[in-house]
Amino acid sequence: MKMKHLFGLVGSAGAVALGCAAYSELAIRTTEYSLTTGKTDCPLTVTVLSDLHFSVFGKDNCRLVKTVRNTNPDVILLAGDFFDYHHGKTNTDRVVKTLKALCEVAPVYMTPGNHDKRYDVQTGDDFRKHAENSGVTVLDGEITDNEIKGQKVRLGGIFDHSVYLEDYGDRWKTSPVYEYLKEFEKSDGLKLLMMHRPNTFIYTNDKWDIDAVFCGHDHGGIWQIPLFGGVYAPEQGFLPEYYKGEHDLCGTKMFLSTGLEGYYIVPRLFNRVEILKITVK
Ligand SMILES: [Fe+2]
Repeated sequence: MKMKHLFGLVGSAGAVALGCAAYSELAIRTTEYSLTTGKTDCPLTVTVLSDLHFSVFGKDNCRLVKTVRNTNPDVILLAGDFFDYHHGKTNTDRVVKTLKALCEVAPVYMTPGNHDKRYDVQTGDDFRKHAENSGVTVLDGEITDNEIKGQKVRLGGIFDHSVYLEDYGDRWKTSPVYEYLKEFEKSDGLKLLMMHRPNTFIYTNDKWDIDAVFCGHDHGGIWQIPLFGGVYAPEQGFLPEYYKGEHDLCGTKMFLSTGLEGYYIVPRLFNRVEILKITVK
């Protein structure tokens, strides 16, 4: 093969890869699920977002807000990492505007991710103050009982472990997360939980009386290779088993969002940014 043909081939492949990456990063998909609990008199629409990491979808994220509005949510759940310590306070105003706009669509609840927590440490700022001033209810190891469309709904959110839970051994059953989940179970209404990291439900075998848990953190495996699936997820490593979708883990339904951003400077590939629309019946 002549050199110029080789350069042409490499250049074309690069252009296609860039195009695919841009499509993955910018074209928001609404992934729809149905959850049957037998606890509702009428269907509830729960819209879940995760891992914004200060990303931009139009001015002040108007394109993202419009996509959320189009799901007609009864409640919006943010499963962590809306802020990002890598950016300092540069984009904080934009996230605040985004949160305010989402609150005009439906009630918004948020649980922190590792980047929200570290944002506070790195910047000396307070993500919780920004979220609450925007109208968001932050659930960080807290529980709230609500009535949504006449239905009794318990909502919760807690910051999850960052390590394999096997490493905890016997300490797992005395950990704050375990105690929290025991408390969270104590309701006969619909129980919807946010946990940024999915680790607890992946690495423990306890049966919980919880209707659904909504997670992020894994960014859809960053790249999704046909026939292989997601390439990498924090804590799980390469070729993770859990990187997107709906899973049944010891009787608890886990909905794992691929989120709204890549991974540091690594762009997403064959892995569109997404929000989740769950119809709960
Ligand atoms: Fe994240």
